[in-house]
Amino acid sequence: MNKPTDSIPGFRGFRHAVVTGGAGFVGSHLCTALLEGGCEVTCVDDFCTGRRENVAHLTDRPGFHLVEADICHPFDAEVAGAGAGLAPDLVLNFASPASPADYLRMPLHTLETGSSGTRNALALARRHGARFLHASTSEAYGDPQEHPQSERYWGHVNPVGPRSVYDEAKRFGEALTAAEARARGADVGIVRLFNTYGPRMRGYDGRAVPTFVRQALAGEELTVTGDGRQTRSLAYVDDTVRGVLAMAGSELPGPVNIGNPDEITMQELARLVIELTGSASGLRFIERPSDDPAVRCPDITLARGKLQWEPTVTARDGLRRTIDWFRQHAAG
Ligand SMILES: NC(=O)c1ccc[n+]([C@@H]2O[C@H](COP(=O)([O-])OP(=O)(O)OC[C@H]3O[C@@H](n4cnc5c(N)ncnc54)[C@H](O)[C@@H]3O)[C@@H](O)[C@H]2O)c1
Repeated sequence: MNKPTDSIPGFRGFRHAVVTGGAGFVGSHLCTALLEGGCEVTCVDDFCTGRRENVAHLTDRPGFHLVEADICHPFDAEVAGAGAGLAPDLVLNFASPASPADYLRMPLHTLETGSSGTRNALALARRHGARFLHASTSEAYGDPQEHPQSERYWGHVNPVGPRSVYDEAKRFGEALTAAEARARGADVGIVRLFNTYGPRMRGYDGRAVPTFVRQALAGEELTVTGDGRQTRSLAYVDDTVRGVLAMAGSELPGPVNIGNPDEITMQELARLVIELTGSASGLRFIERPSDDPAVRCPDITLARGKLQWEPTVTARDGLRRTIDWFRQHAAG
């Protein structure tokens, strides 16, 4: 039988991956793909935004280990005691509150996770000579003045605005990761993920897709911020995971953008969700949050050229799969 990692160019056949934030939305899909690819997985999570249900399908499977720990404190001993047969050869650093509602509620924990947490995850990788991959974000570009955003763009971030707790923590995590490579010759990579959506998002996490899907399924008005003309580019989670694993398997230091360049306005997205759910809901326009970026679209030339990666799931298909999942699960 084909493994999901077989189709990933250059995947190195890692044997034990540590995934911080592995019980979160993206992390749980990564754990699943790695395990199905024949890799042992130790998932480290403090459950501040993640859920045990996200990895419930993995907990009885051989080779999966779940550790409850806050990566802001060193967590080597917990990983060593989790039961994996081998030392880690890959560390994927995905722990961090990621939705604006979450990081605005936990500003200091978000900063601490991006800084001390990333330092501790890097230290774990260093001790085992493992490749380290840091999950950064398109938020590193802030409210961009260049469009689309390529990795050469340095960004436009308000360092003291409310969103800075996330943006600057991620930028610091990138700086730390890059310095680890420069100062110690570590094998590191940085991926800048653009908006990703799919099953296991929480209906109340504040991000546009789960909010719209939850509201449409409940027959409520869909709350569009501002005039709804601001754009996002939305990647289905399977595409993102494939991109992350391709980057893990490569020797590239990054940063490399992983996202879907098909741009959609928030108003178009809301109308598409209404159409696909068959809902009778209308739209309601509400105030736009401060420092909310007006446009967001990745230039993925680098990922296409160096990783032979590009997204393949259309917005319609990805939204259909997400809506099906939301129909079967409590909106959360
Ligand atoms: N989903 C996206 O659109 C997107 C876009 C860009 C970047 N990212 C990055 O991908 C990663 C995952 O995002 P997500 O959307 O799955 O969010 P999520 O909130 O679902 O997952 C984050 C996970 O990290 C855990 N966590 C947070 N702080 C921790 C800590 N100190 N110690 C241990 N665990 C901790 C949470 O409990 C949760 O399980 C984040 O680093 C995020 O910045 C996601």
